[in-house]
Amino acid sequence: MRILVTASSKHGATAEIADAIAGHLAEHGYDVLRKNPQDVTSLDGVDAVVCGSAVYMMTWMEQAHDFMDRFASELEGIPVWAFSVGMNGVPAHVPQDPSRIGPVLTKVKAIEHRVFPGRYIPSLLNLRERTIVRLAGAVEGDFRDWDVIEEWSRTIAETLSDVSQ
Ligand SMILES: Cc1cc2nc3c(=O)[nH]c(=O)nc-3n(C[C@H](O)[C@H](O)[C@H](O)COP(=O)(O)O)c2cc1C
Repeated sequence: MRILVTASSKHGATAEIADAIAGHLAEHGYDVLRKNPQDVTSLDGVDAVVCGSAVYMMTWMEQAHDFMDRFASELEGIPVWAFSVGMNGVPAHVPQDPSRIGPVLTKVKAIEHRVFPGRYIPSLLNLRERTIVRLAGAVEGDFRDWDVIEEWSRTIAETLSDVSQ
């Protein structure tokens, strides 16, 4: 069974989460394709999709939106998991209302949409970005929880193994 893991990332935090998910799914024996959304030209031969994006100004990045738009009809016929990365610095990482992430998840029915905290490292950002994030009250740090990400990957692997039997 072939799984596409695709994610949009501007400063690398989301890409590393996608890499980790891809790695875990491969450890579970799946044939994993790891691509940026803009590099995906076809879903031929793909049996399941994990699609994610960093959240900027309350929405997914354009390439991830575009991926969901381009493949909306194909994605209806296969299992899809979605994840959003953001929220670092929001007290206690209170998840944002998914409907605010944009119309993307109303177009494609995901089995599950997970929200993972990302990171805020000021030296990775330009002045404008640093100003926005500081004004939003973000706390500096890397809040990615690799155990939670591994656990989620395991859930995906197990769900797919159930449906393929
Ligand atoms: C300019 C800017 C705007 C952001 N807007 C949001 C937002 O609206 N909601 C949110 O949850 N996180 C927001 N974030 C936090 C990012 O999603 C977070 O830093 C994430 O880890 C970035 O992922 P990346 O390194 O893959 O680009 C914002 C960050 C920046 C720099």
